[in-house]
Amino acid sequence: MDMNYKPDQENLVEVNNLKMYFSVKTGWLSTTPLKAVDGVSFAIRPGETLGLVGESGCGKTTVGRALIRLYTPTDGDVFFDGKRVDAKSIGSLRKDMQMVFQDPYSSLNPRMTVEDIIGEPLDVHKMYTSKADRREQILYLMELVGLNAEHATRYAHEFSGGQRQRIGIARALATKPRFIVCDEAVSALDVSIQAQVINMFEDLQQKLGVAYLFIAHDLLVVHHISKRIAVMYLGKMVEMADADELNENPMHPYTVSLLSAVPYPDPKIAKSSKRIILKGDVPSPLHMPSGCPFRTRCQYATEQCAQEMPKLTDRGNGHMVACWNK
Ligand SMILES: Nc1ncnc2c1ncn2[C@@H]1O[C@H](COP(=O)(O)OP(=O)(O)O)[C@@H](O)[C@H]1O
Ligand code: SF4
Ligand SMILES: [Mg+2]
Repeated sequence: MDMNYKPDQENLVEVNNLKMYFSVKTGWLSTTPLKAVDGVSFAIRPGETLGLVGESGCGKTTVGRALIRLYTPTDGDVFFDGKRVDAKSIGSLRKDMQMVFQDPYSSLNPRMTVEDIIGEPLDVHKMYTSKADRREQILYLMELVGLNAEHATRYAHEFSGGQRQRIGIARALATKPRFIVCDEAVSALDVSIQAQVINMFEDLQQKLGVAYLFIAHDLLVVHHISKRIAVMYLGKMVEMADADELNENPMHPYTVSLLSAVPYPDPKIAKSSKRIILKGDVPSPLHMPSGCPFRTRCQYATEQCAQEMPKLTDRGNGHMVACWNK
């Protein structure tokens, strides 16, 4: 933690050098720190969306959870609206920072009605003056996310995946947050439903001015909704740029490989892109490669890449890359 760190007042969310290490049992008496997130920094303006991508296991969920303090970060500074987010301040900031989860099947209690699910945060934060007021707020939230008011007394398990995700979003919106972590919020849905739910996230942003950290392993999904995109690999940020810039001019070999894995609807783009096929799996964060974390899968790796970790540096217009050869 850097107590002298001063956030930019124009940022709604600012994260500086965030680290989240888990202690993992690796033997009878031994534990090893698993560096799930290792020195990540970014900022989000009010009403803006930052996309966060990377393969499974890269630390995306851990960033989201540590950021809103569902985990206690190992190190780093997190600010919300200029205020430091810590054990003391989080109580009063909780309403402002919400999370929508990946799996609408497991994150909603099937034995609760839609009304109860959406009303729960209102109960917790005592956000209504009467029963009628509570009900009115719930119906307003249901309308916001495109759910029929008649569905209020139904149970979560009676709904389709897309509708369940809408219930989850209405619940997250109940406390009128200014920031929502959307963790793979559309990843479990069919492609056609994905587009509808993404459009809804955008409409809600227009209407309510809410900012998102939009996490997904699919770059195409993230590109559509994000102003800027950050790419993570093995707990580190390897590239960050405006969404179109990242798409058209990716610099990090990992980003290039993620993009060439995307099935482009436009054959012209598909043809002109240099395809790099990712070989092998992400190494375990318990056996982190020396130097650049991507070097075991990188076709451009040199001796220097094994020696030293490249720093994330600005290559112009806020396009940040961590690679020795770029
Ligand atoms: N509670 C935990 N305890 C130990 N290791 C964890 C925990 N949560 C996540 N990890 C590990 O941290 C790494 C990052 O996980 P995660 O943030 O879930 O990645 P992603 O969301 O990108 O798939 C993985 O190696 C995962 O196994
Ligand atoms: S630093 Fe080296 S290993 Fe890492 S991405 Fe760049 S070229 Fe590849
Ligand atoms: Mg995840």
